[in-house]
Amino acid sequence: MSNKMWGGLFDESPDAIMEEINVSIDVDRHLYAQDITASKAHAAMLAKQGIITAKDAKNIAGGLDTILSEITKGSFTFKRALEDIHMNVESRLGELIGPASGRLHTARSRNDQVATDFRLFVRDTIDEIDAAFASLQRALVDRALEHADTVMPGFTHLQTAQPVTFGHHLLAYVEMVSRDRGRFADARKRLNESPLGAAALAGTSFPIDRHATAKALGFDRPMANSLDAVSDRDFVLETLSAASIAAVHLSRFAEEIVIWTSPLVGLVRLSDKFTTGSSIMPQKRNPDAAELVRAKTGRVIGSLTGLLIVMKGLPLAYQKDMQEDKAGAMEAYSALSLAIRAIAGMVRDLVPNEERMKLAAGEGYATATDLADWLVRTLKMPFREAHHVTGRIVGTATKKGVALHELDLKEMQAVEPKITAEVMKVLSVESSVKSRVSYGGTAPKNVTSQAKAWLKRLEKE
Ligand code: ARG
Repeated sequence: MSNKMWGGLFDESPDAIMEEINVSIDVDRHLYAQDITASKAHAAMLAKQGIITAKDAKNIAGGLDTILSEITKGSFTFKRALEDIHMNVESRLGELIGPASGRLHTARSRNDQVATDFRLFVRDTIDEIDAAFASLQRALVDRALEHADTVMPGFTHLQTAQPVTFGHHLLAYVEMVSRDRGRFADARKRLNESPLGAAALAGTSFPIDRHATAKALGFDRPMANSLDAVSDRDFVLETLSAASIAAVHLSRFAEEIVIWTSPLVGLVRLSDKFTTGSSIMPQKRNPDAAELVRAKTGRVIGSLTGLLIVMKGLPLAYQKDMQEDKAGAMEAYSALSLAIRAIAGMVRDLVPNEERMKLAAGEGYATATDLADWLVRTLKMPFREAHHVTGRIVGTATKKGVALHELDLKEMQAVEPKITAEVMKVLSVESSVKSRVSYGGTAPKNVTSQAKAWLKRLEKE
C-alpha cells in the first residue's frame, strides 16, 4: 500500500530502509501537546475565516481533544509507518471523525506545522528551565546567607590566593545563573513569533488570519516572511547556546564540588542523598552526581555543534535535514534541566567543614596581600615596594616553616624596621575577609546584604 497522505501519485510502498531513515515519531511524539494545540488554533481560525464550516471545526476540535487524552492516558498507538507526530495525529483524527479530518490541513503544511510545534515546545522548555534555575538560585542564596562569614580559601591557579567567604563563593554562581536566565529570556523573546500559515514555503491563497492564530498560541506576532518561517532553526540554536553556556557554569561548580569533597581537600561533605558508595571499597563516598553534571555539558555542547553543522549551508526553504533538529535539542534540554536540579539538590544539603575551611584559608600565606596593603596604608609605601617587602617576609616565614602571624615582630622588622605590632591585626583570615568591603567584595556584611537583596528579588518573581 502506498502512503495514504500522498498516495495519489505513488504506486509502491516505501522501502523498509526508506521508512527507517525517514521516521521521526520516536522523537517528535514529544511534540504531541503542542501539535494538538496548534491544530486546534488553526481549525478555529479556518472556521472563523469561512474556509471550513463551524461544524467541521467543532468535530476537529473534539477529535483532537480525544487524541490528546488518548496520548496522555497512554492508549494511543503511535505508528512508525505514519512517519511523524503530525501524520499520526491526523490519521487518528480520520478514524475518529471521518472525512472532515481532511479539512484540517487546508492552508497549512507540515513545514509550518513542525516549525510552530517546535517553537511552542522550546518556549515551554525555556519556562521549565527558568523555574529550575530560580529554585537553584534560591538554594544558593539560602546557603550563602547561612555562610556569609564562613571563611574559606579563595584560589587562583588552584593555588591558595586570598581568604574569601563561602557565602561569597556561592553568590558568584547566583550571578552566573542570573545571566543564564537572561540569555534564555532573550532567546524566548526572539522565538516568540508564529510560523503558522507560512504553509509549505510561499504562504497560501486562502484568506487565513495569521494574526489570530499567533495570538491564540501566545505568540507576539506572525513571522513576517514565509520562507524564513519554515526554514530557520536559529531559535533552537540560540537556546542551545544559552544551554551550553549554562552547562559550562554548572560543570565548573560540579568540578569544585568534586575537588572540595576529595579527602585530600576535605572542604565540603555531600549528603548521603547525593553520594554513592563503592562496590569494593567500603570507605568510598563518591560525588557521582557532580561528576555527571560535569559530563552532561558534553551532550549539551555536542547538540549545539551538531545542529550548527546540520544547518550550515542548507539552502532555503525547508530541507528534510532539519528533522534532525529535535533529538539532540531535546536531549540537551533534559540533560541541562537534570543538571540544574542535581546541583540544587547538592547545594541544599552539603555540609562545609568550617574548621578545615578556615585552616586552609590561612595556609599558603593567604594574608600576604593584607600585609602588603598594611604597609601601603600605614607606612605610605608604594604598593610595588610593599609587595617586595612582603615577599621577603614570606620567605623568612617559609624558611622557618611558620605562618605569617607566627613570626616574631623582630623577624619582620629585620626586613622592614618601621613595621609595628599593629600589623598582627591584619594577618588573621577573619580580619582579611572583613576588610574586603569594596563593592562586590567578599566581606561578610557585603555577602549578607547581597544575599538579602537576592532573596527579595527572587521572592518578587
Ligand atoms: N517530521 C518533519 C520534521 O520534523 C516534519 C516536516 C516534514 N515536511 C516535509 N515536507 N517532509 O521536520
